[in-house]
Amino acid sequence: MASCDLSLLCTSGLAIATALLLWAAIGRRRKAGEPPLINGWIPFLGKALSFMKDPSTFLLSQQQKFGNIFTIHLAGKYCTFFMDPFQFVYIVRNCKQLGFQEFADKMISRSFDVPSILSTKFPELNENLHRMYQYLQGKSLDMLSEDMMKNLQQIFERKCSQATDWEAEKMYKFCCSVMFEASFITLYGRVPAADGHKVISEIRDKFTKFDANFPYLVLGIPVELLGATKKVRKELIRHFSYQNMTKWLGGSEVIQARKDLFEKYELLTVYDKAAHHFTFLWASVANTIPATFWAMYYLLRHPEALAVVRDEIDHLLQSTGQKKGPGYNIHLTREQLDNLVYLESAVNESLRMCSSSINLRLCQEDFILKLDGNQKATLRKGDLVALYPPTLHMDPEVYEDPKEYKFDRYIENGKKKTTFYKRGRKLKYFLMPFGSGSTKCPGRFFAVNEIKLFLILFVTHFDAEIVENKNLGFDNSRMGLGILLPDSDIAFRYKIKSLEK
Ligand code: HEM
Ligand SMILES: *[C@@H]1O[C@H](CO)[C@@H](O)[C@H](O)[C@H]1NC(C)=O
Ligand SMILES: *[C@@H]1O[C@H](CO)[C@@H](O)[C@H](O)[C@H]1NC(C)=O
Repeated sequence: MASCDLSLLCTSGLAIATALLLWAAIGRRRKAGEPPLINGWIPFLGKALSFMKDPSTFLLSQQQKFGNIFTIHLAGKYCTFFMDPFQFVYIVRNCKQLGFQEFADKMISRSFDVPSILSTKFPELNENLHRMYQYLQGKSLDMLSEDMMKNLQQIFERKCSQATDWEAEKMYKFCCSVMFEASFITLYGRVPAADGHKVISEIRDKFTKFDANFPYLVLGIPVELLGATKKVRKELIRHFSYQNMTKWLGGSEVIQARKDLFEKYELLTVYDKAAHHFTFLWASVANTIPATFWAMYYLLRHPEALAVVRDEIDHLLQSTGQKKGPGYNIHLTREQLDNLVYLESAVNESLRMCSSSINLRLCQEDFILKLDGNQKATLRKGDLVALYPPTLHMDPEVYEDPKEYKFDRYIENGKKKTTFYKRGRKLKYFLMPFGSGSTKCPGRFFAVNEIKLFLILFVTHFDAEIVENKNLGFDNSRMGLGILLPDSDIAFRYKIKSLEK
């Protein structure tokens, strides 16, 4: 009996081993003209584990061996990486053969429990939703920024009444609570109930829980395996039900326009519409909160940077005859906000350090992509094409001492600096936290304004310092997915500035 079982086990073991060998032997082969193919020996996973552990190091080591273009087998997908930033333009420009929609649509649908926006049930929904992004620019952007300033100001005033003496708090928690509430009210409106503030905190706490498991949803792990995530997601979506949203006061054009649009689609259920609103909330805060955190953290870590930024803000307020600090409302026009170049450089520099957004495209057909000079790459239908900006952001040839935070990297002779070089050639792309081409973030102007407004109000209201003696690293779980979170929170203290006479 025993020996029989054993032999059975051996045979099945043998069968698996044979299958593996066969797979390795017949697994995809490189065809003429195609980039070098890196398979890895683990079926299905391929090189996914090495990639996920540390994408930059892994990609740079492959670049050493195989050159600027190579195809990697990653978790059942073949993904061709283009490592040379001078080649980025050829991928970004080619929207026809290198699409994105289907891939993103599946990921979004699975992660946020929304029906596919490409479904024939909802004719032109995708195009219509993209049209709504006009409300994140121009005049609408000015209104958004103005409202954001008012809402941030109210929240900071509330904080002030609690910080007449040194007040200690964790910095990530602080940024998250301020930015979540201000962004929420600006976009969706005020929750009028007596406990309106509490309702928003509740939504924030659920958002944080959901967001912690977001990377697993993107990877395709079924939500049922992720503990309370499914329940939390459902509760979050329910907050955005029609009955609830109609009670919220104020709110933005972009959300109103999306509400009106959804009403035109009879086949969208009440739950579906709420899920769409939740998806947009996620997009508008999930990256902005950690980006705000890093901008603040690096400034507090670098007093010389903070002093210059503070000075620039003080000068602007003085020249426009505005008093700063608790009790005074600050009003800034778009031009004034744009002209705070040192502040903007500091924000850009922190984005360079902490952003990790992979740019993906899906090949719509077999074709040959023409590149610089006489180079070309043969690509297959169904494969992915990827750009990974962090290797550019950390390229010592483009950015001297790339691991160091230099707040004025994006300044030259007191003005914005936009000329960065590699191999003696000027780069078109040197900072890509917001993606590229057709999938570039439509909220990028608002996002940068939000971070600037937060920092302006923070430095005009408070003196602050970090009180915990440790250096933060990145939490690697969302490599490739956007702005990285810190690996732990850090204590700081702040105190209201004395009122100006
Ligand atoms: C620092 C903050 C932000 C960063 C780093 C960021 C980054 C990105 C990136 C990289 C994408 C493209 C995703 C891809 O290629 O798959 C994206 C898409 C998007 N972002 Fe942002 N984002 C930020 C803030 C915002 C804000 C404040 C809003 C809205 C108010 C917003 C709204 C969106 C939307 C709606 C999309 C999807 C666009 C589409 O349908 O194609 N983002 N974001
Ligand atoms: C409305 O929001 C509350 C919490 O604010 C939530 O408990 C409820 O489920 C939401 N949905 C509806 C339909 O009222
Ligand atoms: C900051 O980066 C954005 C692109 O993300 C760019 O448009 C802007 O000019 C940069 N500002 C400065 C001061 O470098």
